[in-house]
Amino acid sequence: MVELLLLLFLVPFLLYVTAPQIRKMLSSGVCTSTVQLPGKVAVVTGANTGIGKETAKELAQRGARVYLACRDMQKGELVAREIQDMTGNQEVLARKLDLSDTKSIRAFAKDFLAQEKHLHILINNAGVMMCPYSKTADGFEMHMGVNHLGHFLLTHLLLERLKESAPSRVVNVSSLAHHLGRIHFHNLQGEKFYNSGLAYCHSKLANILFTQELARRLKGSGVTTYSVHPGTVKSELVRHSSFMRWMWWLFSFFIKTPQQGAQTSLYCALTEGLEILSGNHFSDCHVAWVSAQARNETIARRLWDVSCDLLGLPMDL
Ligand SMILES: NC(=O)c1ccc[n+]([C@@H]2O[C@H](COP(=O)([O-])OP(=O)(O)OC[C@H]3O[C@@H](n4cnc5c(N)ncnc54)[C@H](OP(=O)(O)O)[C@@H]3O)[C@@H](O)[C@H]2O)c1
Repeated sequence: MVELLLLLFLVPFLLYVTAPQIRKMLSSGVCTSTVQLPGKVAVVTGANTGIGKETAKELAQRGARVYLACRDMQKGELVAREIQDMTGNQEVLARKLDLSDTKSIRAFAKDFLAQEKHLHILINNAGVMMCPYSKTADGFEMHMGVNHLGHFLLTHLLLERLKESAPSRVVNVSSLAHHLGRIHFHNLQGEKFYNSGLAYCHSKLANILFTQELARRLKGSGVTTYSVHPGTVKSELVRHSSFMRWMWWLFSFFIKTPQQGAQTSLYCALTEGLEILSGNHFSDCHVAWVSAQARNETIARRLWDVSCDLLGLPMDL
């Protein structure tokens, strides 16, 4: 009996004490760049929490003017003040951006372009996972609409500034989950069949295909682009699934903190000499393997054209 009680207390206690070390071991990949960013301008979508918040904080720490593009302005303003206080950088600005509404995306871009002459770093970080079937204001399935089409439109609208500010970078936060993704062109909006888990995977595959096609089209422009798997990170991403919330809680000792999860985005945004790897996918601050679908140039080109069509954008940059 004493042994059992000891075990019951000892195991959780040992886990608690060793958790930081175990987590550190499992989360290799640290952005070691010492690049400072005075005079540089960055936009981070979904920067009010999780990985986006930590990414924005580090960019602000290095002296950049950072736009927190958030759908909830109350949360955005709070976090902007928090980052200002922590870093001493007053140029951390919250702006309204709802990626599930193209009007909001266009309004954000219009204000940004009117206000800023430069954009050096765009981090397309915001994301939703495992939402019950729903549509954006423009009738797109929510995962494809927010995670892919929303960022696709935002990037297009800001592209001239990125080109004018070259060398500049676009980082698209994707996921290892893309391995299960497929681009079903006949069912892009999930109207024929829908699974919330797979819908997330499809949209994350779209992030990688977009990155590769964008890199091809921007070759020689001085704008480079990278897709990222941040790792498994303790964040609010699992909010729509009680099963995933439970899993995240169960393994919370081992999964990355948002600060650790931000490292690969920061690595791709900051590391000098990375231009040659434009279009690649990164995980733990290294080039990572992607699925066969994600390497398919025909699918990437077709997805580009279909996305332009859905958003009323010209197909050529
Ligand atoms: N966590 C992981 O294990 C993991 C693994 C692989 C990939 N990722 C990717 O990492 C990225 C960041 O996720 P996270 O883990 O930090 O999740 P998170 O804590 O849930 O943060 C997601 C952010 O996206 C914002 N967002 C959601 N819908 C939006 C919309 N319509 N318009 C504008 N912003 C919107 C959220 O805003 P609100 O706070 O207002 O909802 C929040 O700021 C995502 O792209 C995700 O797919 C995460």
